[in-house]
Amino acid sequence: MAQHEHRLSTTTDAGALVESDEHSLTVGPDGPILLQDHYLIEQMANFNRERIPERQPHAKGGGAFGHFEVTSDVSAYTKAAVFQPGTRTDTLIRFSTVAGERGSPDTWRDPRGFALKFYTSEGNYDMVGNNTPVFFVRDPMKFQHFIRSQKRRADNNLRDHDMQWDFWTLSPESAHQVTWLMGDRGIPRSWRHMNGYSSHTYLWINAGGEKFWVKYHFKTDQGIEFFTQDEGDQMAATDTDYHQRDLYEHIAAGEYPSWTLKMQIMPFEDAKTYRFNPFDLTKVWPH
Ligand code: HEM
Repeated sequence: MAQHEHRLSTTTDAGALVESDEHSLTVGPDGPILLQDHYLIEQMANFNRERIPERQPHAKGGGAFGHFEVTSDVSAYTKAAVFQPGTRTDTLIRFSTVAGERGSPDTWRDPRGFALKFYTSEGNYDMVGNNTPVFFVRDPMKFQHFIRSQKRRADNNLRDHDMQWDFWTLSPESAHQVTWLMGDRGIPRSWRHMNGYSSHTYLWINAGGEKFWVKYHFKTDQGIEFFTQDEGDQMAATDTDYHQRDLYEHIAAGEYPSWTLKMQIMPFEDAKTYRFNPFDLTKVWPH
């Protein structure tokens, strides 16, 4: 190897290359790398920038393309093309955890995102739902504090149950969603085995201009299944990407998961006198 040893070349004040030993520094197999090597420079630039900053929150997730088909008639409530009888619309769905980082285990206890994009003939219709029909807070000013309480501490870079529970106990409106989170459905067995909910109340308008308040419920046709804490912990230790793998493998095997959309519909005027605020995201509309 001795004969291949080269010392670093240096430049003079004038910038001219100086030979460091008897070897020539002319360009060639043993010579310096040049900025003119644009293949290398482009590849390095691309490599350095190929990471997309992690989402904050909902960093870990995966999804699939599919379609949405209307099998009954709700035209009395909406004129939207995507909901007219028989209409078939391409969709994209993305499932996610909320607090976990991009490399975090799929089977940690956490709400799950259920985000749908409908490529409708009237434009794209996006709906971010969760696998729970309610949410922790109503006031969006609390959301950033809430998510930070679920993430790593600034001082020790660790997650902290005390910090999470400090937020929840000081925000009593979160109790309903915390109950969902800490209940049996808090760790879905797979993305295929959970429901999706718009949670929020949306407005539908029919061809006659009548308005209705609605909530979307996407019921899993695979049935609700969940992991116990112990099962979730074991899976987190053996396959951090279990939910991603489950979805991919079932689709690859031709076992396409499906959900049936059911609607809750409230006449527009009823909201004013309903026995509680129907726009309160911490409450469900009873069936
Ligand atoms: C004050 C309330 C909320 C705030 C401020 C908020 C904020 C955010 C932010 C900043 C993101 C990351 C977006 C990105 O970087 O891609 C996100 C993602 C998401 N949020 Fe929320 N969120 C709120 C409530 C909700 C609720 C109530 C739901 C469900 C009903 C929800 C469902 C989702 C989903 C599913 C995603 C991931 C979307 C995807 O997969 O592309 N969020 N949210």
